[in-house]
Amino acid sequence: MNRIVTRMAGFAALVSAFGLISLPAYAGDTYQGYTLYNQSCFLCHGTDGKGNGPLAKKLDVAPDDLTDGDNGAAEKSDRELFGMIQGTIKHGSGASAMPQWGLAMPGNQINSLVAYIRFLQRSKHPLLGDPIVGKRVYDNNCAACHGRTGKGDGPLAAVLNLQPKDHTDSAEMNKHPNSHMVEIVTNGTPGKSLMPGWKDMLTKAEIEGVVSYLRLLSTY
Ligand code: HEC
Ligand code: HEC
Repeated sequence: MNRIVTRMAGFAALVSAFGLISLPAYAGDTYQGYTLYNQSCFLCHGTDGKGNGPLAKKLDVAPDDLTDGDNGAAEKSDRELFGMIQGTIKHGSGASAMPQWGLAMPGNQINSLVAYIRFLQRSKHPLLGDPIVGKRVYDNNCAACHGRTGKGDGPLAAVLNLQPKDHTDSAEMNKHPNSHMVEIVTNGTPGKSLMPGWKDMLTKAEIEGVVSYLRLLSTY
């Protein structure tokens, strides 16, 4: 045990000796990444990450397509993407307009951006509605059963025999198209399972928003 602690302390000292290299401290929050991306990145990289934002044509070096797999961002490790966003790992020509976001953002926000870039690369389904509307709907109406983070561990799940699915499982969630998710949220699941239908309580925009928020609860 002591040996492990000593080794970890040694490792931490080694990391801090490099100063500039900050390792991602914990998994990013994809929803936070979505909000940051749509404030700070879409202008150049485009809302879908394909490098076609409104500012793109004005730059000498084109912004990268963040969904590109051919030696592009999709093949880089989380650590590499983190460093490129932070400005501590060089990318491309090194002479482009890509800002050093480490000057303006703490590491946890950069982790969240990496998580959202993974969503843009790997989700099979686009965001249907507004996830900001969806978060409010989810926290008020769904978290009691599905849990704050979507793991199916809300307080009601502990006292009723509910067994909601784990919405953070992206492989499982990717199997369901948006139309299927909208149908379940609108009308509930058939039979005796305890997923209620929401058509009398939520508007179409709220249902589409909450389905989009569910997509951002998955880990990619
Ligand atoms: C002012 C325009 C601009 C903004 C805003 C911007 N970028 Fe960039 N970004 C670029 C350009 C240009 C490149 C290409 C750099 C090169 O090739 O030298 C780039 C490259 C990157 C890369 C490297 C991808 C690769 O495969 O090498 C990542 C990752 C990235 N940007 C993420 C972000 C994120 C996340 C944000 C928002 C926090 C952001 N960018 C905001 C212009 C921008
Ligand atoms: C009373 C508890 C409860 C509440 C509240 C609740 N759910 Fe559910 N939900 C469930 C249960 C239980 C299931 C599993 C149903 C099954 O497998 O037959 C489920 C299943 C689902 C599914 C299908 C998931 C899958 O993987 O097949 C979606 C989507 C869903 N819920 C979304 C929501 C949304 C969005 C809200 C809020 C507007 C919500 N739920 C509120 C209990 C609840």
